[in-house]
Amino acid sequence: MSLNYITLFPVLLLLLPGSAAAAALFPFPPPPASPVNVTLEYIDPTLPPLLPGHDPKCSLTVLQHDFANTAGEPPISAAYAPPPDCPAPWSRVVIELSGRASDIQKDRIAAIWVDGSEILRTSTPFPMAPGVFWRVRKDVTRYTALLRGPPVVAAAADAGGETTFSMMLENSNASLPGVYSVNVSLHFYRGAVAGEKLTAHPTVKGLYRQPADLILPISSDAGDCCPGGYWFKVHNDSDEKLTALAIPNNTYRAVLELYASHHGEDEYWYSNPLRSTTASSSSKANGGFRQVSVSIDKLFAGAVVPFPVIYPGSINPFFWAPVSAIGVYDLPSYDLDLTPFVGLLLDGREHEFRLTVTDSRPFWLVSGNLHLWLDAWSDGVEGALVRHRAPPLRLNRQTDWRGSDGKSSVDGQVIVRFAGWVSSSKGNMTTSVRQRLKFKSKVEVRGRGTVKLAAMEVNSRTDVGTKLNRAVVGRVKVSREAPLVMVTESSNGGGGSELRKTKMSHGLTESSSVVAEGEAEFSAVADLQEAEGTELVADKGAALWGSGDTRSTYSFRDDKACYLRTVNVVGGRVRDDVETATCAAAA
Ligand SMILES: *[C@@H]1O[C@H](CO)[C@@H](O)[C@H](O)[C@H]1NC(C)=O
Ligand SMILES: *[C@@H]1O[C@H](CO)[C@@H](O)[C@H](O)[C@H]1NC(C)=O
Ligand SMILES: *[C@@H]1O[C@H](CO)[C@@H](O)[C@H](O)[C@H]1NC(C)=O
Ligand SMILES: *[C@@H]1O[C@H](CO)[C@@H](O)[C@H](O)[C@H]1NC(C)=O
Ligand SMILES: *[C@@H]1O[C@H](CO)[C@@H](O)[C@H](O)[C@H]1NC(C)=O
Ligand SMILES: *[C@@H]1O[C@H](CO)[C@@H](O)[C@H](O)[C@H]1NC(C)=O
Repeated sequence: MSLNYITLFPVLLLLLPGSAAAAALFPFPPPPASPVNVTLEYIDPTLPPLLPGHDPKCSLTVLQHDFANTAGEPPISAAYAPPPDCPAPWSRVVIELSGRASDIQKDRIAAIWVDGSEILRTSTPFPMAPGVFWRVRKDVTRYTALLRGPPVVAAAADAGGETTFSMMLENSNASLPGVYSVNVSLHFYRGAVAGEKLTAHPTVKGLYRQPADLILPISSDAGDCCPGGYWFKVHNDSDEKLTALAIPNNTYRAVLELYASHHGEDEYWYSNPLRSTTASSSSKANGGFRQVSVSIDKLFAGAVVPFPVIYPGSINPFFWAPVSAIGVYDLPSYDLDLTPFVGLLLDGREHEFRLTVTDSRPFWLVSGNLHLWLDAWSDGVEGALVRHRAPPLRLNRQTDWRGSDGKSSVDGQVIVRFAGWVSSSKGNMTTSVRQRLKFKSKVEVRGRGTVKLAAMEVNSRTDVGTKLNRAVVGRVKVSREAPLVMVTESSNGGGGSELRKTKMSHGLTESSSVVAEGEAEFSAVADLQEAEGTELVADKGAALWGSGDTRSTYSFRDDKACYLRTVNVVGGRVRDDVETATCAAAA
C-alpha cells in the first residue's frame, strides 16, 4: 500500500533509545517521539463484539501462517468444518485475527474468505519497530450460512464437498525484514449473550436482522481460486467485473454486501485534485469522488461511496501508532437491499452481477456477497420489479488551477428508488428501497504548492419499507456520514528533505433504526479522530522522522446500552484510555 515509505530504517533508529541521529542531521526538527514506553500493541479502539464475561461454547483455530514472501502467491487455505460439539445455529460467532510483525515492514492489505465469500477485509499495521502485535475481532454471525459447513446429506459419500477458509496477505521481506505471523480463530456462542445487541464496529445491525440462508460470492474465480485472490482487481472506470449467478427459486429476500479498498494510485483518492492530465504532471488527478456500483444484467441496482479508510502508512504513519485510523483492521462493508430485484432473478437462470468503480485509477480490490433468504415452505416463489427510478448521478465539477496552486471541487446528490413484490408462503410482500446520497469534495493548494487542504463529506441514507398487502410490516433506516478535513503545510527540511505538518479530523457515524415484527430497535455508532503532527520526508518520499498526537472517540448507543472509549495518544504514547459501558463519562 505505502509506496511512499520505502526506507524505514532511519525511523527505526530514531525509535530506539539513545539515537540522536535526527538532531545532528536536521537543523530544526521538532522534539522526537519518545522512544521510552512505546507500546507494541496496536489497537483500533472500537466496540468489542462481546463485552467481557461471555465465554464461547467452542473455539477453533482455522488458519495459522507466517506471511514472509507471499507476493504473487495464491491465498493460503485450509479445510474447515464447525466443531462437532458446536453445530449451527449459534447466537453469535466472532472471528479473531491475531497478528505479530517480526520486524519493521510496510502495511499490507489482507482478506479472509470462506468458499470464496469474503468475511473480513483488514490491513496490517505499519510496524516501525520489531514485535508489533495487534488483534482484530469481528462479529461474523451474519455469515452463519458459510460457517455451518456443507449440509449433512444421508448419502454422504460425494455430497457437498468441503468448506475452505482462505487468507491472502501479500508480503515481501526482501527489502524490509518484517514477517507477519497470523492466527485466525472462530468463537462460537450459544444461548443468551447479554448486551445482546452490541455488535462489532462499524456495521450496525441494519439490513440483516437474521443471518441469511445462503451466501453466494460475487468474486474472482469463485469456487476455483485464483493466483490473485478472490477479490476483483479493478483498474479504471471502464473495468467491469462480473459474476454470473443463478439463485434458488424460493428466494424471498436479498441483500448485497460490498467490500472495497483503494490502492496504488488511488491510495489517497479522498485528497486527489481534479486536474486535466495535460495541466498536471500528476497521474493522480481524478478528483475526490469514487463510487462502487452494482448492476444486474446491466440494470443499475445500487451504489455506494466507500468510506475513505486511511491506511497505517498513509498521510503520517506516526498518527496511527499505536491507534489505527478508523476501520483499518475491519474495513467497512456496504449493504444494498436487492429484494425489489428478486422477481427478475427467479427464473432458474444465471444473471450477471457487475461491479464497477466510478473514476477509479489503478487499483481497487472489490468483492460482493449476495445474502439470500429462502422460503423453506415453497419450491418456487414469484415476484416482479415494479419501480426503478435511478437518475444518473450528475456531478458538479469545478476546477481553477494556475501553476501548482488552485482549487477543485466535486459535488452532487441523487435519490434512487426501487420497489418490487415477492409472493411467498409469508404472503405477498412489497419492498421499497430509497437511497439518498449527498457528496462533496474539495481540494485546494496554496502558497506555491506548500499548503494543501482536502475536505470531503459523504451523507447517505437508505430507507427500506416492507408492506404485506397494504400494511407496513417492516422498516429499516440506515444513515451514514463520513466527514474528513485535512491540512498539510510543507517546508524545506534541509538536505533535500521536506517537513510536513498535518492536522486532520475524520469521522464515521452510522445509525440505524429497524422496525420488524412489531419491535423497534435503534443503534448508532460515532467514531471520530483528530490527529496532528509532523513528518520529515526524504526527497525520495521515505519517512525519516515523525511524531503525531491522535485523539479517538468511539461511541455506540442503542435503546439498551451504551459504550464509550476515548484514547488519547501523545507523541506515540497512550496518555489516557478510558472505556465505559455506561457512558457516564459522556455526560
Ligand atoms: C515507563 O514505564 C515504567 C513501568 O511501567 C515506568 O516506571 C516509567 O516511569 C515509564 N517511563 C516513562 C518515561 O513514562
Ligand atoms: C498463534 O498461536 C500460537 C499457539 O498456537 C502462539 O504460540 C502464537 O504466539 C500465536 N501467534 C500470534 C500472532 O498470536
Ligand atoms: C524472509 O522470511 C523467511 C521466513 O522467516 C526467511 O526464511 C527468509 O530468509 C527471509 N528473507 C529475507 C530476504 O530476509
Ligand atoms: C482499463 O483497465 C483495463 C483492465 O486493466 C484495460 O484493459 C483497459 O485498457 C483500461 N482502459 C483505460 C481507458 O485505461
Ligand atoms: C426454477 O423456476 C424456473 C422457471 O419457473 C424453472 O424453469 C426451473 O426448473 C426451476 N428450478 C428449480 C430448481 O426448481
Ligand atoms: C402481489 O402484489 C402486487 C402489488 O400489490 C400485485 O401487483 C401482484 O399481482 C401480487 N402478486 C400475487 C402473486 O398476488
